Amino acid sequence: MKITIIHGQSHQGSTCHLARMLAEKLNGEVTEFFLPRDFGEDCVGCTTCFEVTEAKCPHYTKLSPITQAMDEADVIIMASPVYVYHVTGAMKTFLDHYGWRWMVHRPEEKMFSKQAVCISTAAGAGMKSANKDMADSTFFWGVGKTYRYGIAVMAVSWDAVSDKKKQRIEKNMERLAQKIQNRKGHVRPSIKTKLFFHVMRQMQIRGWNETDAVYWREKGWTGKNRPWR
Ligand SMILES: Cc1cc2nc3c(=O)[nH]c(=O)nc-3n(C[C@H](O)[C@H](O)[C@H](O)COP(=O)(O)O)c2cc1C
Repeated sequence: MKITIIHGQSHQGSTCHLARMLAEKLNGEVTEFFLPRDFGEDCVGCTTCFEVTEAKCPHYTKLSPITQAMDEADVIIMASPVYVYHVTGAMKTFLDHYGWRWMVHRPEEKMFSKQAVCISTAAGAGMKSANKDMADSTFFWGVGKTYRYGIAVMAVSWDAVSDKKKQRIEKNMERLAQKIQNRKGHVRPSIKTKLFFHVMRQMQIRGWNETDAVYWREKGWTGKNRPWR
């Protein structure tokens, strides 16, 4: 099993420990990226990715290794500490770079058979909205199954997290890893994803953005082909 972890921060605190704990229990080949260390560019808002091609994004080359690792992964783990009730700025700016991959534009078909996990830790609150920040992207990328895990660690460093809490996290990660293992090899997108894809397909048949419409036609999705088995 190939696992790609996108860390929403460059330090190795509680969130990093949780993501690594899950990856360890999945017992696969792990590739990790830390933001902004490995990618910290802000989207410049040129919209070239939507209108022409993502390859002309000024940050395309720098982003390519991460894109490739996500495309090759069976499981994508997105992990971010909660900063003012949301993901870190680094995670947000990273996600901005994949707007062109949303189903409304040009989704990557490999995503439909992948599993993703959105993990967030907070001192007290904000995990729900932070996980939503990441899960919105995985849903609109077409990812087959997304799990969310948020926990208030009541601390600002991993060392300060209580043993009781660490034991609870360990158990939760064990259970989550088991679910992911059980689904391995037979991930199917949800009804919600399929319905949304269908609505997008109708839109692409009418063709409001030529770059996207050409992509959908070439994939055969405006005909009988679908990005899932
Ligand atoms: C800039 C900043 C904003 C934060 N905002 C929140 C917040 O909105 N809610 C919260 O409960 N904790 C907040 N925290 C605390 C962290 O989310 C929490 O300590 C988290 O577990 C840190 O994860 P890490 O050890 O991986 O860095 C904030 C911390 C920082 C540095």
